[in-house]
Amino acid sequence: MRGSLLVDNIGELVTNSPGGDGPLGIRRDAALLIEDGQVAWIGPARYAPAADRRIDAEGSAVLPGFVDSHAHLVFAGDRAAEFAARMSGEPYTGGGIRTTVGATRAASDDQLRDTVRRLRDEAMRQGTTTVEIKSGYGLTVADEARSLRIAAEFTEDTTFLGAHVVPAEYADRPDDYVGMVCGPMLAAAAPHARWIDVFCERGAFDVDHARAILACGQAVGLGVRVHANQLGPGPGVQLGVELGAASVDHCTHLSDADIDALAASETVATLLPGAEFSTRSPYPDARRLLDAGVTVALATDCNPGSSYTSSMPFCIALAVREMRMTPAEAVWAATAGGAAALRRDDVGRLARGARADLMILDAPSHLHLAYRPGVPLIRQVLRNGVPQCRP
Ligand code: NIG
Ligand code: FE
Repeated sequence: MRGSLLVDNIGELVTNSPGGDGPLGIRRDAALLIEDGQVAWIGPARYAPAADRRIDAEGSAVLPGFVDSHAHLVFAGDRAAEFAARMSGEPYTGGGIRTTVGATRAASDDQLRDTVRRLRDEAMRQGTTTVEIKSGYGLTVADEARSLRIAAEFTEDTTFLGAHVVPAEYADRPDDYVGMVCGPMLAAAAPHARWIDVFCERGAFDVDHARAILACGQAVGLGVRVHANQLGPGPGVQLGVELGAASVDHCTHLSDADIDALAASETVATLLPGAEFSTRSPYPDARRLLDAGVTVALATDCNPGSSYTSSMPFCIALAVREMRMTPAEAVWAATAGGAAALRRDDVGRLARGARADLMILDAPSHLHLAYRPGVPLIRQVLRNGVPQCRP
């Protein structure tokens, strides 16, 4: 769609940028002009310039689109029965990943593509305008490469997670699997990936295997992210810091030394409260991280096992209620924090030159995202300045 577009009559504009109030850079009674898919001007509504088209926000809040920096959308089947068993007391071990691997290998490209599209659209209706997508349910050279090829149809932020678990056929020779991940699998995956990730956890990959795999990915130009300290304490967070990871994700079980290492680094701690909710596990303590000066992001971890939600507003509500984040901290973590976790400065904020990715709420303030949990508050989403949906 060409021409300029004015979003006018904004009661509360969250910019995450200097020039507004507080950590969210809030401006009141504002307007925002979009040209060529980017924010061209922000200012008081009374000084709004003329434009080809106009959207009246009717005094509602406008926020940057959510940046969901951690999602596993390329899969087939579901694990509803596993969820039901957990709610009856079974623990989550990650063992169900192999069930999804079987279903994913058996699916056609079009089935996988349809699932990614369905979940991407579902997320968009809830305000997500940027989503990272991981492979990790193929675990053969061909299935990891096709997972990433399909993911790349939907996002720039694709992540090679060949080291999700050791697949059954390699169960008694994990060293051989790691060699395969670093060799032919990485070679086939890298052209379609921006990032590499490893599930560094007891029962998945130990720290030596994780370090070897991440180093191979770095050597071919991929950025590092780590699934770390989800199910128990461990070395994953400090490995991520050592390797200069953009983000370490989960961070549910952290020692003081883990927090110190994060605070002294550029690595973002990405918290995934949907996983604790869906596995009935204790939540990470975001307050401890924030008070130490660590940059915190919030993401969905959308996947059929540990967190089958695409909803960033749900994660914000959990973070505020269960993880001692303020509503403002949670909104920042779900927007600017996600952008930091993906090392992007074009999204997660609304300022001149940023991508015109934003949502208009059916509410006067960002506070309502946590205050009104489970309520569809997203009135309209614009991506690259283009209206996506009007639910
Ligand atoms: O981030 N922890 C590892 N991977 C996913 C869960 C995958 C699954 O259970 O299918 C996660 O929680
Ligand atoms: Fe995950």
